[in-house]
Amino acid sequence: MATNKSWGGRFTQDVNALAQTFSTSIETDKHIALDDVEGSLAHAAMLAEVGLVSAEHGQKLKAGLEAVRAELLAGTFPWDPSLEDVHMNVERRLAHFAGEDAAGRLHTARSRNDQVALDARLYLRRRLSEVRGHLVALELALVAQAELHVETLMPGYTHLQRAQPVRLAHHLLAYREMMKRDRGRIDDLLRRALVSPLGSGALAGTPHPIQRERVAALLGLSGITANSLDAVSDRDAMLEAMSAASISMMHLSRFSEELVLWSTLEFGFIEIGDAFTTGSSMMPQKKNPDMAELVRGKCGRVVGDLVALFVTMKGLPLSYNRDMQEDKPALTDALDTWASSVAITAAMIPAIRFKSENMRRALSDGFVTATELADFLVTKGVPFRDAHHVVGRVVGDCVASGRRLEDLSLEEYQAHHAAFTEETFSWIDPERAVERRQVPGGPARAFVLEAIRTAKEELSLEG
Ligand code: ARG
Repeated sequence: MATNKSWGGRFTQDVNALAQTFSTSIETDKHIALDDVEGSLAHAAMLAEVGLVSAEHGQKLKAGLEAVRAELLAGTFPWDPSLEDVHMNVERRLAHFAGEDAAGRLHTARSRNDQVALDARLYLRRRLSEVRGHLVALELALVAQAELHVETLMPGYTHLQRAQPVRLAHHLLAYREMMKRDRGRIDDLLRRALVSPLGSGALAGTPHPIQRERVAALLGLSGITANSLDAVSDRDAMLEAMSAASISMMHLSRFSEELVLWSTLEFGFIEIGDAFTTGSSMMPQKKNPDMAELVRGKCGRVVGDLVALFVTMKGLPLSYNRDMQEDKPALTDALDTWASSVAITAAMIPAIRFKSENMRRALSDGFVTATELADFLVTKGVPFRDAHHVVGRVVGDCVASGRRLEDLSLEEYQAHHAAFTEETFSWIDPERAVERRQVPGGPARAFVLEAIRTAKEELSLEG
């Protein structure tokens, strides 16, 4: 039976049953229940310290909240669907453990508006540190494969056309750079997010002599929010977290797309281990890269969560509005999806077998060293634009006669340009083409090894 008794004396009628079901947030609030208790423990401790509750009540609140936390962790917490959210549920259950008198004092100098704003920040700290750990594992997995494939040459692509030879390690390390930035975005946003809004009250603070900084310190937060109206209506940290999640999911999606492409017969660059692929219910020969496809698919879902909250927030006047309750379904879905996508990708990478022979073979077609010929002519004093034109004609020749660059004779090269010499042929070797690129950030062995060294060093600091 729906009841309005928790709202106190103002209400004489029970809430409409539809209204109650419509407004409940219990299901998504389960994600922030532990954070809610953590915030309450700090708030209660501060209330006792400043004498807003007695030492005895403070003790009861502490013990009671710890009992609630134990139930939440054990999965035995008795959620009451007639109480609209996590805050009311925890407070009711607290009364069971601590008694009505003590429990009724916990909400002194606090509103659910500053309470839920704090819960979200603690939730972000907890979940983002988990995602961060998965990102480190993912980077380590990429670096480990890169180490195995310093000597593996493959075509690098632009426009999905074979472009120039690179080392597979260099290609894998490109993704590691993305994951590193994703991790950096988490650190950046947490620096702003980890401050306490408690003490902002419903919107205009509290008349009680509380110690906001003390609550922040107890929670390990770096400080307090500066404006009570802003504090209860600000959802930037969530938007930043979902922006970071969206960017990271976009990176994972691009990586997944390559895994899907590379595992086709058409590419034949990788085989993903059985543990991360699935068969077809009809076609016995199929081995499908479903995990990669799902990660690619879930990117859309996370971006959707971000957009949902943007649209929710954009028209809201100050300060708290109930619309904002829609933040948590989006945020918790985005973080659950992000965390599991990073984790599955990290787990899958060691199960990928790179088919070095096929990658190498792909270098023999597609004129991937045509640029080298132009660069060779440049070393002989030919302006690059002219050299580019000459080599374009060389390639046209090869296409017309069904040959590769190495199939032309020196005389044929010289017919295109007199500056071609015997040396020309060493320039079209893929290995030498890669090694000629002695440029920081490039695919030459020394720089790739350096990048691996740097990555391992950075990641070792992440413990
Ligand atoms: N469930 C609410 C939310 O997530 C908690 C805050 C409710 N505050 C209020 N004044 N109704 O936004």
